[in-house]
Amino acid sequence: MNILVTAGPTREAIDPVRFIANRSSGKMGYFTAAAAAARGHKVRLVSGPVCLPAPDGVTMTQVVSADDMLRAVRTHLSWCDVLIMAAAVADWRPADVASAKIKKTGRSMMLELVPTPDILRDIAPYKQQRLFVGFAAETSTVVAYAAAKLAAKNLDYIVANDVSQPDAGFEVDTNRAVLLGADGSREEWQLMSKRDMAERLLDVIETATPQTGGRGNC
Ligand code: CTP
Repeated sequence: MNILVTAGPTREAIDPVRFIANRSSGKMGYFTAAAAAARGHKVRLVSGPVCLPAPDGVTMTQVVSADDMLRAVRTHLSWCDVLIMAAAVADWRPADVASAKIKKTGRSMMLELVPTPDILRDIAPYKQQRLFVGFAAETSTVVAYAAAKLAAKNLDYIVANDVSQPDAGFEVDTNRAVLLGADGSREEWQLMSKRDMAERLLDVIETATPQTGGRGNC
């Protein structure tokens, strides 16, 4: 299969030296891309800024912002059979990016934030026969919020993560999750390495039948 994976955070610039980002290390997406390539799939990885080496056998596209990631996903979408959106895309960006470093004044300052594009919602009309997998990063009401995203973003599966746990979610090498399927399926994944979770996810993907969605080409 042709598998497109996104990973890592995005960075939204405030000025030439500052940005808004989040705690995503990119590990879940990188392990998934590496495991898929090792299984013989063709893999393209769209990555935000992370400190990880490119996995063997994977074609990389490096991006910075949510807008960049949207452009890259749209570029590769027609190529893929499966999209795995493991990236933690920033939800807001500064309304204006200062061209020079903002100097401190000793006073408080207001930063106006505007929404970034929701990549999965943006590409949902172009899903067709592709399998779409999302990740939900939650700190409460994990399964209910993830189920709402599964439906709202027209996904086949969503991996629901409680990122408030010290041994799961952001930055660490282990994870625990609930996998929810649009077909009503539900699997509880107890604590395991992200490498093992990537294999579990690929086992599901390799036997899944995507729900048809959308019509057009991107
Ligand atoms: N996602 C996306 N575009 C965004 C934000 C998120 O495509 N601007 C994708 C993520 O890659 C993930 C899924 O949507 O696969 C859920 O992301 P998450 O951060 O959990 O949820 P949000 O949709 O951002 O909602 P909220 O921040 O309110 O929980």
